[in-house]
Amino acid sequence: MAEAAGKVSMEKIVSLCQRRGFIFPSSEIYGGLSSCWDYGPLGVELKQNVKQAWWRAVVQERDDMVGLDTSILMHPQTWAASGHLEQFSDPLVECKSCHLRWRADELKDNNCPSCGGELTEPQLFNLMFKTFMGPIETEANVVYLRPETAQGMFVNFDNILNTTRKRLPFGIAQIGKAFRNEITTGNFIFRSREFEQMEIEFFVKPGTDDEWFDYWLEERRNWYINLGIKDQNLQLRQHTSRELAHYAKKCYDIDYQFPMGWSELEGVANRGDFDLVQHASHSGKNLSYHDEETKQHIVPYTIEPSAGVDRSVLAFLCDAYDEEPDKEETRVLLHLHPTLAPIKVAVLPLSRRENLAELSKKVYADLRPCWMVQYDDTQSIGRRYRRQDEIGTPFCVTIDFQSLEDNQVTIRERDSMNQIRVPIAELKRTLTAKFEGEDLFVLPPGGQIWKEGK
Ligand code: GAP
Repeated sequence: MAEAAGKVSMEKIVSLCQRRGFIFPSSEIYGGLSSCWDYGPLGVELKQNVKQAWWRAVVQERDDMVGLDTSILMHPQTWAASGHLEQFSDPLVECKSCHLRWRADELKDNNCPSCGGELTEPQLFNLMFKTFMGPIETEANVVYLRPETAQGMFVNFDNILNTTRKRLPFGIAQIGKAFRNEITTGNFIFRSREFEQMEIEFFVKPGTDDEWFDYWLEERRNWYINLGIKDQNLQLRQHTSRELAHYAKKCYDIDYQFPMGWSELEGVANRGDFDLVQHASHSGKNLSYHDEETKQHIVPYTIEPSAGVDRSVLAFLCDAYDEEPDKEETRVLLHLHPTLAPIKVAVLPLSRRENLAELSKKVYADLRPCWMVQYDDTQSIGRRYRRQDEIGTPFCVTIDFQSLEDNQVTIRERDSMNQIRVPIAELKRTLTAKFEGEDLFVLPPGGQIWKEGK
């Protein structure tokens, strides 16, 4: 039975990630560091591909967006202005018996979930990580690891206006690390203390903000769907007034049906003029915009689609995971969108015999400049196909003894397991067409259908 959409267990995802080198616990040889993760050789490719796909969609292919990369450490006044020093807190309770600490708003009753002991009254706990700038550890030298990338974009609003001459509406996009001293973490990479965000601050004229909010909510939802997330595994959920962050006029979560249930994948917020007004007042700088039509200075409103890189990686993995019956065994495969797949093509010589290896290495060398390609000549061809299926490689190219005579190789498609045979001279062109979405059975000159997979 194929694994039902949204129903794969977290254990299976964690096990696949560790077994195949997607994600490891941080500093594992020392027992790991709670809620920190290391991306392995395949994980780093997947994560990179997620970030590139986002950047392409929101910066490269748009006239109204520019990119930015700001520092993690920012002037401490940033956090006074943004409200994070005052407001970025969760209610914390401590068990009077075992001294474990919990987020009060996540508890079902007033007892310790671990030992049933009595809990203290909630106290607000600020989630920002503190450190010191320079060698002297005094209050005057305190700086914070940013809890969101957003503020780097607000404090650069004027720099962007002056250097790019963008007119409203326009946006700034940034990908980068953020840090939160979360009280409770868990569910693998879903909630960690060090994570990456992909954020947009889109500046619009006040009065057009509702329209742009709807636009971005739809745009961002479609981004996930275009990259393969199943429609039924996404839902939009409006924040109640109690849930709204201190800066937000309105907010929707794009929720994904993770193994532990529906949870936030991305938030889209209307931040109004909160941030620019706050930074203007704390810095004394003019952060308004001169509207040439009305000849007036206005403070733009901001629509903020804010996505988590790690949560996106987890959602793409969960959605792609599948199991199929395969003779006596089970075929585990990741139906990853080719854009996201860590390895795009595997080159598999049927045997290690020297003459076959020579031709296979030539094919490998020819493909490598175009895509991430893996060369694998170990174990049986069937096992090698399974290994590639399990890491989501869209195409395997097999070189057999006949290839030495006819200069042709087979291309096997991951999902259908269909195979075609094509001249080596046509291989790169054929693979390019397949990556662009062409049906496998559309053949290049000299090509033939080789095998129907299912
Ligand atoms: N600038 C707005 C902002 O940061 P958020 O809803 O707190 O809003 C945005 O965070 C996104 O960042 C979330 O939707 C999630 O994908 C990701 N994120 C937030 N906290 C996280 C954590 N502790 N671990 C992993 N990802 C997190």
